[in-house]
Amino acid sequence: MTSAHYRSIFSPSTAQQRKENFDSYWEFTQQHGGEFLEEDRDLVVKRTKLEYFQNNPVKLRTPLANPEAFYRNYVEMHDKPESLDKMTLMLTGIYKFARHEWVGIKGAWDVTPSMANCINLEDRISRIHLAEEFCHVRLFDEMLKTCGLDNVEWVPLSPWKEKMYEQFPKFPGLLIDTPAFVTELMGVTFYFHLHRLFDDVLADEPEVRDRLKELLDEITIDEIAHVGQRRNFIGNVEIKVSKWLVKPFYTLFFNDIPEVAHLFDLKKMIQDGEEFDFNAVPDYMIAKSWIPSYCKN
Ligand SMILES: [Fe+2]
Ligand SMILES: [Fe+2]
Repeated sequence: MTSAHYRSIFSPSTAQQRKENFDSYWEFTQQHGGEFLEEDRDLVVKRTKLEYFQNNPVKLRTPLANPEAFYRNYVEMHDKPESLDKMTLMLTGIYKFARHEWVGIKGAWDVTPSMANCINLEDRISRIHLAEEFCHVRLFDEMLKTCGLDNVEWVPLSPWKEKMYEQFPKFPGLLIDTPAFVTELMGVTFYFHLHRLFDDVLADEPEVRDRLKELLDEITIDEIAHVGQRRNFIGNVEIKVSKWLVKPFYTLFFNDIPEVAHLFDLKKMIQDGEEFDFNAVPDYMIAKSWIPSYCKN
């Protein structure tokens, strides 16, 4: 007996299925993001949506009481996290998560072939994927602006960490595909938990709560598609390895962001990652996203 529409993201697949799914993803991604603006690392449909948000801003009913607390702790935590209010912790935590994403894609953009130099469909998919990730950083930036934080700077990591991120995309596919998939899964897990946190932290700010959810949905819909797409790069041995990697990966990554322990249930995030199967994704997101055929019942 099953009422579930979808199967585990860790379900097996054949090489032929994965080939067909790359074709299907390519069809999806072209209409999803619209025209690719490589110079600007942007996509027309996404740019238009961001402009809509920028041209129709919403503001906090009660401005942040202590924006200095944000600016003092957003790049590095200097205060004791427990001394900060939940709203500040949430905003510095969002920045720190997005900053990792930004550093990772900056490194990858420079070493992946430009669209004109792509030799296969996987390369083209990856190029568009990276442009979408740059759009996410802009959407995160817009979340912070919505909360009145207009002076956020996107600061590089320490030189050795930046180097590490730059080296990563140069590894052979066999080595990067599994962690790249787990990273996308971690993103989706985090965004679902963040969505729920908005209800808690922004209970008295319904306009901003709804706007942050709209901004986050734009990101999450892409990330759900990325999870399936990155899963499609890997075979049946690596998919087992990636399930084992969920716990150490999430633990390592989130322990580096001090806000997470104060705002989120890491154990539940790990469990959600290991059990991920698209069934908890709301229909309005499914309708705009993409799921591999072998994850459908
Ligand atoms: Fe992203
Ligand atoms: Fe992604």
